[in-house]
Amino acid sequence: MHNSSVYDCTIIELDKHHSDRKGNISVVENRKDIPFDVKRTYYLYDVPGGESRGGHAHKELSQLIIAASGSFTVTLDDGRVKRSFTLNRPYQGLYVVPGIWRTLDDFSSGAVCLVLASHGYDAADYIREYEEFIAYKKEYDTSIGRCAE
Ligand code: TYD
Repeated sequence: MHNSSVYDCTIIELDKHHSDRKGNISVVENRKDIPFDVKRTYYLYDVPGGESRGGHAHKELSQLIIAASGSFTVTLDDGRVKRSFTLNRPYQGLYVVPGIWRTLDDFSSGAVCLVLASHGYDAADYIREYEEFIAYKKEYDTSIGRCAE
């Protein structure tokens, strides 16, 4: 999506079913808790301290990113504005719309980044070069330039 903004991306609070004896369970149901159907699930784990992941955008893919364990920071960039979210609660998910550059870093030891995705894996859906991403966004809005650091 050429014209998406970081303000289209939000934290979704998931239900937390709590039991003093048995702990917690959180649920994500298609089109009920999230505005898309999940076609693929993957998770990042054993990310060494100091490493970053992501560093790309998707043309069509929507995602819900959850810190299933531990914590990490997701930085979103729409070519105009950057927003950073520290995820550290398993009952919160960051909904990321298509057309957003994202970087994940500051992984805590033992962090598990669970990603629910709207499409199967498709290498053609990725934009992996930042300059290409800016050019893609500029097709819609010619005033877009590189974000200030
Ligand atoms: P990549 O997207 O480069 O990871 P990052 O989150 O750091 O950008 O994916 C790493 C590798 O995993 C790459 O070889 C592609 C592969 N991969 C799949 O085969 N299927 C998937 O669903 C995903 C997300 C990655």
